[in-house]
Order: sequence, then structure tokens, then C-alpha cells
Amino acid sequence: MTTLDVLKAKYLEGIAAAADEASLEEIRLAALGKKGEISLKMRELGQMTPEERTTTGAALNRLKDEIDAALRAKKEALADAALDARLKSEWLDVTLPGRPRRAGTIHPVSQVMDEVTAIFADMGFAVAEGPQVESDWYNFDALNIAPEHPARQEHDTFFMARDAADPRPPHVLRTHTSPVQIRAMQAKGAPIRVIAPGRVYRMDMDQTHAPMFHQVEGLAIGRDISMANLKWVLEEFCKTFFEVPSVELRFRASHFPFTEPSAEVDIRCSWEGGQLKIGEGNSWLEILGSGMVHPKVLAAGGIDPNEYQGFAFGVGIDRIAMLKYGIPDLRAFFESDLRWLKHYGFAALDLPTVFGGLSK
Ligand code: DAH
Repeated sequence: MTTLDVLKAKYLEGIAAAADEASLEEIRLAALGKKGEISLKMRELGQMTPEERTTTGAALNRLKDEIDAALRAKKEALADAALDARLKSEWLDVTLPGRPRRAGTIHPVSQVMDEVTAIFADMGFAVAEGPQVESDWYNFDALNIAPEHPARQEHDTFFMARDAADPRPPHVLRTHTSPVQIRAMQAKGAPIRVIAPGRVYRMDMDQTHAPMFHQVEGLAIGRDISMANLKWVLEEFCKTFFEVPSVELRFRASHFPFTEPSAEVDIRCSWEGGQLKIGEGNSWLEILGSGMVHPKVLAAGGIDPNEYQGFAFGVGIDRIAMLKYGIPDLRAFFESDLRWLKHYGFAALDLPTVFGGLSK
């Protein structure tokens, strides 16, 4: 074997065994770089006889070309292998079933609160809010509920703990949304038109009562707001909310400490085959309490009862939600039962029918 054959075998084997581009580059420098073995041999040509130079020069050039070609081919092969490996590791099985996206639903209570708010907003009522942990004064005294009133007894109201040495009456979990009437009157004065939806609490728990439920309070105060206005507002509300062309309301004399006169309001309905129909039939369904705001309540809210008067009402949201959407069991509202919510909940992007109804 000639020296050139030995060189050729050495470099071609090296190239074949190279595992990456860096090793290839090392081989290229060792053979063909400025101080590479082949390059040095080229320089020796100058000292040769013309015959030697012709044969050795040609052989050296061939060797150089061969090594060059082997380097290039190996470089390409390495790049192909790298791409293959990447494709293999990034392989995606498009035949796998997709991961389902869990879509939540809107709770019927939230849905109905939105509907009620939209209906009253259309009649010019703003939304007011108050705290759920309320002072004894706002929840009772300011609403003309006397200290001896049964609602104040331990068995109806959740009282918050107070230091034994603290002489102030304890705060309560508000038992109704009516204290928001006082807060709204204090904040805005008269005239005023607000509704106050929110949570209320009572020590009550059976098939049809839960310790936390929801109400919406209504309050309209002006110089000459009358019971006739109350009746119209409630009729409009019931028609739109229950999506019926007409309703008949019955005002039954009642008593609330914070209104005078007071009325409980029933709506005409039928129960054919256990199916409730609002607006027709021979039955009556109680839906809310209402009345003309008591002068003492106006005064507690900082409004002069000699100048202003108005009406108030309170509706149970859970109750009207059950009536409108045919939900039989109230307790399910609080058990976070996902199957229940799936059945009775509302798709987030569905507009409540009342929004459509309002724009007609
Ligand atoms: N606060 C009453 C309750 O919780 C409901 C109520 C009745 C509210 C008459 C009112 C009203 O504003 O005028 O039972």
C-alpha cells in the first residue's frame, strides 16, 4: 500500500465512524486544513521532479476530492438522521380521541338574578347592594321591627359572636334584603328607584326551606309614588319574567313592620296535571311581599316622610326560579350537585329569554 492509500483508508474510516458534525470538522481540518496532512503533502510537490509531481499531484488531488465528497455525504446523512430522530420524538397521534372541554353552566339562581335585574333595569331601577353580615340596627330597628318581634328570636336569626364584655348588640346574618333599602336611601336620598338582589339567611331547614336563600328587594321613593305604581311595576315584572302575555295579581292585606299598608301578592295560575301554568286558571300562588314604605323607615333612611313616599317589595329568587323553570327540589341548590346543574343550569352563551322578550 502506498502512503496515500494509507491516508485514504484512515480518513474515510474516520469519516464513516464520525457521530456528529463536530467530529467531521475535526477530520476536515486534520486532512485538508491549512496544516492538514494532505495540504502539507501538496507543499512537498515543489521539491519533486516534474514526473513525480505529475503523478503524485494528480493522486493527491484525487484523494482530496474523495475526502471532500465523503465529508459532504456524511454531513448530509447526519442531518437526515437528526431530522428522523426529531420527527420520531415529535410524533403526534391524530387518531387519539380529543380531550373533552368541561363547559360549566350558569346556576338557575344566577340566571334568574340576571333576568330580574334586566327587567327592572328596563323600568329604571338601579342595583344596590349591602353586606350579608349586617348590624342589628339595619336588619331590624331601622325597618321598624321591634325588639320583641319574633324574628329576632334565636331560632330565626343567625347572630354573630360578640365578646362577652362588649355591650353592643351582636351583628346578624341578614335575614332579608330589606336593610339594603335603608342603606340605599342613606346613600342616594330621594327620589330613588333601586333593586337589591342577594343572599339572606335564616335558621330554617326542611324540604322547602334552606338556611341560605336569595331575595330581591325593590324600592321606589318619590313625591307621589302610589300603590297603583307598585301594582303596574309588579304586573310588568311578572309578565316579562314568566313570559306570558297577561297576568292577574291579587293583593292580599297583610302585615310587615316596614310597610303600611302591606300586601302579599298572589299570581293567578293553574296546576293542570301537576304542571304549573302562570297567568290562567283558578289557583293563586303567593309570590312576594310588598307595601307602602312606613314613615319610620323613610325617616331611618334620612328621607322626610312628609315630603316623600313610595313602595317596597321583596321576592324570593329561589322560589320564582323554581316556578319558572320547573325545579322541584330547593335543597339541590346548595349541594353543588353537578348532575343537577347540568340538567337545570344554563349555557353561558345563551341569552336569557327575557332579554329577547324585552326588546320586542
Ligand atoms: N323582608 C320581607 C321578608 O323577608 C319581604 C318583604 C315584604 C320585603 C314586604 C318588602 C316588603 O320590601 O315591602 O319576608
